[in-house]
Amino acid sequence: MKRQAVILAAGEGTRMKSDLPKVLHRAAGIPMLNHVTNHATQIGVEDLFVIVGHGAEAVSRSLPDNAKTVLQAEQKGTGHAVMCAMDQLDPEALILVLSGDAPLISAQTLEQLIQTHEQGNYSATVLSANLEDPTGYGRVLRNESTCDLMGIIEEKDATPWQKSIKEINSGTYCFKGSALLDILPKLSQDNAQQEYYLTDTLALLKKEDKTVGVCCIDNSDEIMAVNTRVQLAQVEAIFRKRINHRHMMNGVTMIHPENTYIDHNVVIGKDTVIEAGAIIECGTIIGENCHIGHNTRISDSFIESGVTITSSTVISSRVGERTTVGPYAYLRPGSCIGKRVRIGDFVEVKNSTIGDDSTSAHLAYIGDAKIGKNVNVGCGVVFVNYDGKKKHQTIVKDNVFVGSNSNLVAPVTVGENAFVAAGSTITEDVPAEALAIARSRQTNKEEWTGKADDKAVKS
Ligand code: UD1
Ligand code: CA
Repeated sequence: MKRQAVILAAGEGTRMKSDLPKVLHRAAGIPMLNHVTNHATQIGVEDLFVIVGHGAEAVSRSLPDNAKTVLQAEQKGTGHAVMCAMDQLDPEALILVLSGDAPLISAQTLEQLIQTHEQGNYSATVLSANLEDPTGYGRVLRNESTCDLMGIIEEKDATPWQKSIKEINSGTYCFKGSALLDILPKLSQDNAQQEYYLTDTLALLKKEDKTVGVCCIDNSDEIMAVNTRVQLAQVEAIFRKRINHRHMMNGVTMIHPENTYIDHNVVIGKDTVIEAGAIIECGTIIGENCHIGHNTRISDSFIESGVTITSSTVISSRVGERTTVGPYAYLRPGSCIGKRVRIGDFVEVKNSTIGDDSTSAHLAYIGDAKIGKNVNVGCGVVFVNYDGKKKHQTIVKDNVFVGSNSNLVAPVTVGENAFVAAGSTITEDVPAEALAIARSRQTNKEEWTGKADDKAVKS
């Protein structure tokens, strides 16, 4: 049967106290809403409707191409939100309703909900869970003798007895298209919040002698919705735990998983070791047998196998096989480092290519450079790439030795096998095989100390 999904994401999220629409707050590196759209896509939903309202433009921009937005100009409740999409809903389809603020729900659980729904041939099925602390959620009301679902009562409308019920509504449902389309126009705003509650559809369907099912799941983590920043941090922690668990099961060693932060959609090869305090962000691929040392941050980068990175930051860059980076190195966007390269402490690289077997062991700035193979960049070398207005490129060909504390003032080219003497400021191209010395000559004044004027100079 064709699957459609409606994802509710129009609410303001008042309790977040934020300028950012609630569903755009990130969990494991991506907006909460995108976790939900991913799961819907994973289970083969054909039409994905996202109800937008607060911050509609920003929310729409964050959505994948397969999602269509439906504007709910005024937020009159979850039932009203689904009404806004009625024109687009197919009476023949199975319709999932999901909440943009509940990102932990897995594709597997959604399949379980659909299975319960289809096996029971229900008009509607709600996903529920039992919570130690059900505060804030709608409670599931069941018939005392048959245990059948009677309806859902919102906390704000509940009696003290109803509030003591621990089974809660996750805000995730499955409907027969025809039943949903038939019942939505019958919702009223007769409740504490004067909203159209989607939850009321269940009792209304019962009243019309339609059957309604409940799929109660054991893993209550999955249904957690975010209404406050405290809950956002809890959701984040659950994601981290899940993600780390998956990597460890795939052969990655984590010295201290509780203190290792890996975003959604990161790939890590087996036998890679990750130390405490590592932050590995979206879009990163790490090969096998790497060693990611403590307090390293890697974002949107490709790290080949056998690489060691210690206490360093790598952003939108590529690092070749068996290269070592750090401690305290900074690879800024557009850095492409070859194989067996050594990038040592306090070396900053930006928008540069460095060939295989080259070395920059300490204290250098390499910006807008093209460096060949087997090049040595000495300590304190600066690639002077900026003239105050524009950036310029420096080219250093294979086997060049750049002595310590040299400045290469771009645009400039140093030819193959050339040697730049320490302390040189290079402003003109250096031919291949040449030795370039660009510094003032040393003069030694013999027997200078002990003379009368020595004291004056020293003081
Ligand atoms: C809702 C359910 C509650 C359930 C809980 C689970 C109702 C009436 N209540 O309550 O039973 O336990 O979710 O988390 O449905 N939204 C819109 N348009 C609106 C109102 C809300 O798009 O007019 C969106 C919000 O952006 C949010 C979702 O719907 O993503 C849920 O809304 P929220 O206000 O958080 O509902 P709860 O009060 O938490
Ligand atoms: Ca909510």
